[in-house]
Amino acid sequence: MVARKTIVRYATACLLVCCFVFSGQQSFAQRDAVPTDEAIIAEGEKLFNEYQCNSCHNVVGKKVGPALAGVYDRRDLDWIYSWVKNSQAMIAAGDPQATALWNEYKPSAMTPYDLENDQILAIMAYVRNVEENPPADKNTVTGGGEEGPAGGSGVPESYLNIIVAALIVVLVLILIVLAIIIGVLKKYLQDKENISEEDKEIVNEKFSLVAFVKSPTVIGIVTFLVIALAAKNVIDGLYTIGVQQGYAPKQPIAFSHKLHAGEYEIACQYCHTGVEIGKSANIPSVNICMNCHSSIKTDSPEIQKLYAAQESGEPIEWVRIHNLPDLAYFNHSQHVKVGGVECQTCHGEIQEMEVVKQHAPLTMGWCIDCHRNTSLNTQGNGYYDRLVELHNQNSATPMNVADIGGLECAKCHY
Ligand code: HEC
Ligand code: HEC
Ligand code: HEC
Ligand code: HEC
Ligand code: HEC
Ligand code: HEC
Repeated sequence: MVARKTIVRYATACLLVCCFVFSGQQSFAQRDAVPTDEAIIAEGEKLFNEYQCNSCHNVVGKKVGPALAGVYDRRDLDWIYSWVKNSQAMIAAGDPQATALWNEYKPSAMTPYDLENDQILAIMAYVRNVEENPPADKNTVTGGGEEGPAGGSGVPESYLNIIVAALIVVLVLILIVLAIIIGVLKKYLQDKENISEEDKEIVNEKFSLVAFVKSPTVIGIVTFLVIALAAKNVIDGLYTIGVQQGYAPKQPIAFSHKLHAGEYEIACQYCHTGVEIGKSANIPSVNICMNCHSSIKTDSPEIQKLYAAQESGEPIEWVRIHNLPDLAYFNHSQHVKVGGVECQTCHGEIQEMEVVKQHAPLTMGWCIDCHRNTSLNTQGNGYYDRLVELHNQNSATPMNVADIGGLECAKCHY
């Protein structure tokens, strides 16, 4: 009886392991079906940007939609094809994987795309390539518009300060206790008779400040403190990279907003194609510059850099200026298109800047203050009519962003 039970157990276990190994193999086979050919990867990258998958997806890290890295391990390629073509149809048809995804991300829905299977496969090739060969420099944005994760995570500074303060308090307490013990011991020893002259001398020795300061222990401690302080400052400096007000790094090409957006009045949207439709504003790719510079100022050395970039296919490594930490979610189209907020309110007079400078502090307080004080742009937006009516019944002040939940943590934090 017992033997039979054991056999059944072993058999079940073997079966489970087999299933596991088998399913694992299958998913690797999926990944291997995604091409690694450079031409296909380049085509995929183009499609990824052109169809603005990048406005909702990162390869690594969540955005509006899930990270795409490894999606060819999670799903069948056929599933991915029909998903990209019409995700809502799959959800409506009750596909279990599609329904689970939708439940996690709704109400964000994915746009249906009129793409061929091999175009979608090319996008997967690009995703696989980025996943397997991540870009080295995380602090630059490329014309492709993918976002490097915001630099710097780890122990928050406020915790570090608290820990350091607590340590100092403990050390001081220990010093006081030691001093008291020394005092008590000295008194006790002085009262004792049977104690040698030599020991007495030590007990009665006067404390010499000069000798103390010159002692190797003290010099060691002071040196250590100085080095530690210097290190802390360096780390603090690294911590604020990209979130500094007034940050205006030198760019690889002397591109001037004053000239393009100011004198020539080129619309911001012409280059920053994402501002009205997506989360990111996007940094223009070389192609957009070439619309004009294939014939304008062709012999300028700065413009020659554009030709070199186009020839090599390498995106220009513009230094990223504005960069919120990963924990915060900011969406351009919500502010520019829906909210009707001007670029200049947040970015300053860009059209007068020779070199772009970070105008706003980009802190949480800055976001919140504006949400408290800005009334909603509800004109001509049917969605708000009923809400405004309700609001006006209960309040004399105009409806502002805070009233529609603009102060809720989850609206801005993943
Ligand atoms: C408007 C935003 C948006 C755009 C643009 C977009 N997606 Fe999505 N995508 C989503 C959301 C949101 C989901 C999660 C499911 C849902 O809520 O519909 C998703 C899910 C997916 C999934 C399934 C991921 C998984 O973990 O199974 C794939 C694959 C995908 N998208 C590919 C693409 C591709 C390729 C493009 C460009 C051709 C694209 N998406 C463009 C929003 C978007
Ligand atoms: C001809 C194309 C073009 C136009 C038009 C243009 N920009 Fe830019 N913008 C760029 C490029 C290229 C960069 C990256 C290099 C730089 O920072 O100067 C950039 C950078 C920026 C940045 C900083 C991005 C970062 O890294 O954080 C902001 C903000 C910005 N632009 C806002 C605007 C606004 C507002 C307008 C309209 C008044 C505008 N731009 C018009 C091409 C353009
Ligand atoms: C809509 C047309 C247009 C677009 C798009 C455009 N530019 Fe320009 N650009 C101009 C004009 C016009 C000039 C001024 C030419 C002159 O001074 O004669 C200029 C001048 C320049 C100069 C100064 C060259 C010099 O040596 O004086 C640089 C650098 C430059 N552009 C870079 C860029 C970059 C980078 C992009 C893409 C992000 C871009 N431009 C996109 C029209 C454009
Ligand atoms: C309500 C404030 C606000 C308004 C309005 C706004 N931006 Fe931004 N912008 C930001 C913030 C915040 C970031 C940093 C986003 C991040 O790091 O995720 C940013 C980043 C950018 C960037 C860097 C690339 C990116 O997408 O992260 C560009 C370019 C840019 N903005 C251009 C524009 C243009 C052009 C307009 C007007 C059409 C505009 N912005 C309007 C707040 C704003
Ligand atoms: C200059 C004013 C201003 C600043 C600064 C600003 N916002 Fe907003 N924000 C608005 C307005 C106006 C709306 C309402 C748009 C609408 O009608 O849906 C809004 C809406 C939002 C919403 C949607 C709220 C909801 O309930 O639907 C989020 C999320 C958001 N902002 C995030 C941010 C973050 C994150 C920052 C800082 C990095 C920021 N905002 C800075 C003006 C601002
Ligand atoms: C309107 C948008 C918005 C809302 C609402 C919001 N936050 Fe934030 N929060 C931000 C932004 C942007 C940052 C990043 C600021 C920075 O880098 O200095 C941030 C940073 C933080 C941080 C990290 C602080 C640090 O020093 O790194 C914490 C913790 C935080 N928020 C908690 C909350 C909590 C809790 C709530 C709800 C009571 C909330 N936030 C609501 C936009 C928001």
